[in-house]
Amino acid sequence: MTMRIPLAAPDITEAEIEAVTAVLRTSQLSFGPELEAFERALAEYHGVDHAVAVSSGTAGLHLALLVLGVGKGDEVIVPSFAFIAVANAVIQVNATPVFAEIDPVSLNLDPASVVQAITPHTRAILVVHTFGVPAEMDALEAIARRHGLAILEDACEAPGARFGERHADRRVGSFGDLAVLGFYPNKQLTTGEGGAVLCREWAYARRLRSLRNQGRSSDRDPSADAERGSPYSSGWLDHSEVGYNYRLAEMACALGRVQLNRLDEMLAMREAAAKRYNELLADIPGLDRPPMELPRRVISWFVYAVRLPIDVSRERVQSELAGLGIATGRYFPPIHLQSIWLGQASAAGSLPVTETVAPRMLALPFFNRIAPDQQREVVDALKHACSKG
Ligand SMILES: Cc1ncc(COP(=O)(O)O)c(C=O)c1O
Repeated sequence: MTMRIPLAAPDITEAEIEAVTAVLRTSQLSFGPELEAFERALAEYHGVDHAVAVSSGTAGLHLALLVLGVGKGDEVIVPSFAFIAVANAVIQVNATPVFAEIDPVSLNLDPASVVQAITPHTRAILVVHTFGVPAEMDALEAIARRHGLAILEDACEAPGARFGERHADRRVGSFGDLAVLGFYPNKQLTTGEGGAVLCREWAYARRLRSLRNQGRSSDRDPSADAERGSPYSSGWLDHSEVGYNYRLAEMACALGRVQLNRLDEMLAMREAAAKRYNELLADIPGLDRPPMELPRRVISWFVYAVRLPIDVSRERVQSELAGLGIATGRYFPPIHLQSIWLGQASAAGSLPVTETVAPRMLALPFFNRIAPDQQREVVDALKHACSKG
């Protein structure tokens, strides 16, 4: 059913439309100047040396794990309160995700739980900045250093979020050995489908570029200047390992480049919308609003998710709002309770915070240009639904 007030909506202006159209007027629809410009802009924005654009956030996670050398017999610590892709990517490299608990306020990995999850097989911590709230990076970095573990940041939900010991002065995506961004249309910055991997090490970037393009020795056509439009010269087809097709088209890169230029402006719109919800929702008994501020952090608002009062049925609230044309989301069902995990070691009861928080979570319609009237309508409907228990 199409909802009158959707859960998320991309913010596409004439500037994006012009940039994509301009690509379509050229003959270079893949591996062209837009890819280079987008990657350069992403690296610069995040204060890292390299950005490698890929076809999705999940593809980025997959390649980042491969580049870190994570494989069979290895364990990767991940939050269970997260999008399923974080566990899927670990399984795709034949490693084992080990679920750790979250902090009940920030909803991010609880460092104490991460320490408890470490075994001799642990290779990496996959740190998700959930809902755009930066994770406890200083504590997690210290743990990783102490135990010789890699950090892979998943910043898919947090472009532009910042964290810093004294001031929140570093953008997330610049902390880990590698970091992943995702550009699905519900994200703050979209390319339709797409993602990127950020890193400092040239050797990582080189291998990422090879793996996203079938394992070719170089994904840049060495004869590009002389032979533009002819990427099939034999020198280009040297495969040094088995790779994937995780390339991102020029149209997507052009869209992303303009969106990145507008990102800070878009994040300000989202913050204003979050503040409006926060004021409107002040007086629903038992309903918990998301934290608006946390020490040392600047939030990049991905979703606005409340915790419903304990005695209120989420299913009924959702169906009542849906009946009024208002979309809501259940972000996120714990991964360790999904059917593929049932019967495995980390089953129900093992992560009490996750299992208590998740069933109460309800994401409200939230996008750059949500109108104050729409937010009032959502809140009125929510108040009515909650008043019935
Ligand atoms: C935390 C997180 N990781 C990974 C992904 C996967 O990204 P994609 O859908 O682009 O594959 C998403 C969302 O889509 C996400 O929210």
